[in-house]
Amino acid sequence: MVNIYHLNINKKQIKNAKLAIIPGDPARVPKIALALDRNSVELAFNREYRTYLSKVGNAYILTTSTGIGGPSATIAIEELAYLGVEKFLRVGTTGSIQKGLKVGDIVITTAAVRLDGASAHYAPLEYPAVADFYITRVLVDTAEKLKLNFKVGITASSDTFYPGQERYDSFSGYVIRRFQGSMKEWQKLNVLNYEMESSAVFTICSALGLKAGCVAGVVVNRTDAERIDHFVVSRCEENTINLVKESVTKILAL
Ligand code: URA
Repeated sequence: MVNIYHLNINKKQIKNAKLAIIPGDPARVPKIALALDRNSVELAFNREYRTYLSKVGNAYILTTSTGIGGPSATIAIEELAYLGVEKFLRVGTTGSIQKGLKVGDIVITTAAVRLDGASAHYAPLEYPAVADFYITRVLVDTAEKLKLNFKVGITASSDTFYPGQERYDSFSGYVIRRFQGSMKEWQKLNVLNYEMESSAVFTICSALGLKAGCVAGVVVNRTDAERIDHFVVSRCEENTINLVKESVTKILAL
């Protein structure tokens, strides 16, 4: 059987998996997969795309990294959908822009501001980037049950980590006029956070008749700092992996 080009996996290997957990970081793939099933197996690791197969109950689940940003995320989703996957759960990290959202908290995204380019290749800009309602409801119910600190709402999803998220702590220190003052505007418009994939993930999934949800752990609060402390990333991973682990059975049943 021929493997699909970027992910380097095939239909037979994925055993009719209908749900894929999609972190950005390949290093997070075994952490998530082994939390779901300690007998999970690695299927492939090609470029930024690393895939593990896990068994939960009678169902198989894939965990596949997307790399950073919309373009590579759309490749992962296209190829997984081609192999038969129907539901996608993005698990990421994020910078919060509201004072009430602290490092270690979780954002469950309902919709994304489309500050990316890839989503426009799937649907015009008037088309909303929205999460699947039912997957989101499971995530919210589970986060409540686990008594996690979380907020539910809109995410600004940017193609760039530096100018698009109005970071001045960069090589040039310059942010083009389009983004100068943009963080303040998103704050005023009650946007919760910045990340880099949800707008592309939601748009491609809605446009193709697939379902997607998104959770992200807050690794920096931008009202305090621009730089991320690596130590807090693992704490955030624990919280989000826990939420995913407790949600997957219900998401499989939707
Ligand atoms: N991911 C982002 O895109 N931005 C942040 O500030 C942190 C994580």
